[in-house]
Parts: sequence; C-alpha cells; structure tokens
Amino acid sequence: MRPRVLIPADRIASRVRGLGATIARDLAGGRDAPLLVLALLDGGFCFVADLARALPLPDVEIAFLRTSSYRGGTRSTGVVEREPVPSVAGRCVLIVDDILDTGRTLAAVRGDVLRAGAAAVRACVLLDKPARRIDADGRADYVGFTIPDVFVIGYGLDHAGSFRHLPDLCVLDEG
Ligand code: XMP
Repeated sequence: MRPRVLIPADRIASRVRGLGATIARDLAGGRDAPLLVLALLDGGFCFVADLARALPLPDVEIAFLRTSSYRGGTRSTGVVEREPVPSVAGRCVLIVDDILDTGRTLAAVRGDVLRAGAAAVRACVLLDKPARRIDADGRADYVGFTIPDVFVIGYGLDHAGSFRHLPDLCVLDEG
C-alpha cells in the first residue's frame, strides 16, 4: 500500500492557523475558568499540538481522552470505546478530533461531556467526511477540510498503527 498526498503539510498548517484565530475570537473571554481543550487520541495528537499553539488566548487547559472505534481496520466497528471524561463541570470545553466520519465518536464524547456538567461544548475536527455520517449528534462547529469517502493517513492518522508520522495527509492506495 502506497500513501498518495491528499492535503500537503503547508496547506494543513495554514488552515490550522486560521482555525485557531477563529476559535480564539469565538471562545475568548466571559468565563472564570480558561477554555478546556479536550483532545481525542490517538489520531488527534498532531492536530491538537498545532491547533493549541495557534490559539492566541492567554490561558488554555488541555486534557486528553483516548477513544477507539476502528480496531486496526479501515471501517468503524460501530462501538466507541472511550475513557471517562475528566472534570469539566461549569467549563467551556472544545473537543478536538482528527476526523468526523460516522459521527459516533463526537456524539458519544459530546454526550459524556454534557452529562459531566460542562457549561458549553464546541467541537473542532481537522477533517469531515460527510458522506459517511450516521449519527447527526456527531457534528463539528469548526472543520478544517471536507474530504470524500477515502481512508486517510498521516498527520497523526494511522492504518494499523503505521503512517502517523507522515507530515502530509495522504490516501492509502492499494498496490
Ligand atoms: P466516527 O466514525 O466515530 O470516527 O466519526 C471518528 C474516528 O474514526 C477514526 N477514523 C479514521 N482514522 N483514517 C483514520 O486513520 C480515516 O480515514 C478515518 N476515518 C475515521 C478516527 O480515529 C476518528 O477519531
């Protein structure tokens, strides 16, 4: 299987800077506690590292939550395994994930965060694959790129644990 570039690293970098500026403008101020960024792992690790540093806010907290629905394949199993959410009561929470696919992961985590008493919840994804949406509660307020129904790797996204290190976002071609 060979990676083919779908979105090069420089386009990702410039879009992430734009997202950071928009999010900071929308979510700045008016709260006692700083914005809490809830980063979904493993796939979101590159995106959240860059997005957090593109947020021109004086104070931001970052927490991490491991989620899994793919179990090494290229299709969602339909079951979203996830860790319990950290303490979010009364907080404004920005969930950050690599990709919005069926929507199950964001719907599940958003529900957990709301049940844990967050005052406001927003979601930001680098990629959106609307063609595969199943759960309408899995929606994002901020989207980097809308892409077709292809399995993507690189910039944190993997296939069976490989390719996360690639700086470009790539499609995995057979052969
Ligand atoms: P759902 O279906 O819950 O999916 O919206 C979100 C999670 O599924 C993973 N995912 C992918 N991972 N390439 C990947 O490496 C893909 O094309 C892809 N599509 C979905 C990802 O972990 C995301 O958090």
